[in-house]
Amino acid sequence: MGLKGRDVIGIRDLAREEIEEILRSSRRMIPYADGSKSGSQLDGKLVTLAFFEPSTRTRLSFETAVQRLGGRCITIADPSASSMRKGESLHDTIRMLSSYGDAIVLRHPNEGAARLAAAASDKPVINAGDGAGQHPTQTLLDLATMQEAFGTLTGLKVVLLGDLKFGRTVHSLAHALAVFGAELVLSSPTGLGLPEDVRSSLDQLGAKVSEEEQLHRVVRDADVLYVTRIQRERFADPLEYQKVAGSYRIDRAVLASAKSRLIVMHPLPRTGEVAPEVDTTPHAAYFRQAFLGVPVRMALLSLILTGKAA
Ligand code: NCD
Repeated sequence: MGLKGRDVIGIRDLAREEIEEILRSSRRMIPYADGSKSGSQLDGKLVTLAFFEPSTRTRLSFETAVQRLGGRCITIADPSASSMRKGESLHDTIRMLSSYGDAIVLRHPNEGAARLAAAASDKPVINAGDGAGQHPTQTLLDLATMQEAFGTLTGLKVVLLGDLKFGRTVHSLAHALAVFGAELVLSSPTGLGLPEDVRSSLDQLGAKVSEEEQLHRVVRDADVLYVTRIQRERFADPLEYQKVAGSYRIDRAVLASAKSRLIVMHPLPRTGEVAPEVDTTPHAAYFRQAFLGVPVRMALLSLILTGKAA
């Protein structure tokens, strides 16, 4: 079928072979991403970045990806400065933006917003995070990070730690890991477990999934410790957030019993779940992970906009 012209709203929109193609292409994009080669794969392309929720890495890595490949961006980075503030509907905003650029990258606080946008747009829409829904491009870079570290995804034992209820990165990642045959260990504070629909999709895939609350137990035989922040902004009641805030923290002491090859990942931003003292251990993979967002998004955009891999 090919990825040209396609929307990417949830990770399920991509077949396993398509994910593999993106990961292969992203490895070839690394020299363009780190600036050692200059590229023109997106020459003449205009990408619209419509961000209605805060973002640092996602927006700027998309922008870096476009610019380093010779394309250009138009950006809404401050929703209060757009006409949505005047009451314009998402539908109208997106329909109009789709007549300006060649693709739309959307981040929005409402789950389902990206699907709605795709229906309003006649250009490809890439979901850069829709509320507590999905974050498929984060998953692609998460997979790229694990593949770079271990050479494979199959058979890896991956702990998903933190706010699995509201964390959109883990909703997309859990599904993809199950597709690739990784083993999942879910570890979350009480009340913040994976939503039922995500959980049942793992069961349908026949994934090996277990649950464990004790940190020292999850660390011992894991290959990947994927830590997430508690999504404070998604709690309706601040008191509920206070009950779980600070309930887990990865530091050197916690990692003392880890395998030497364990990598600690985090989509970032971190808010205390991973102590800065971990940064200088060989386990820390989160800054490499953030960098890999650039080649992965280069690969994805090239395939969607030109049909060609690097
Ligand atoms: C994540 C997100 O926005 O969902 N950040 C990111 O894109 N790297 C994770 C988070 O905000 O906790």
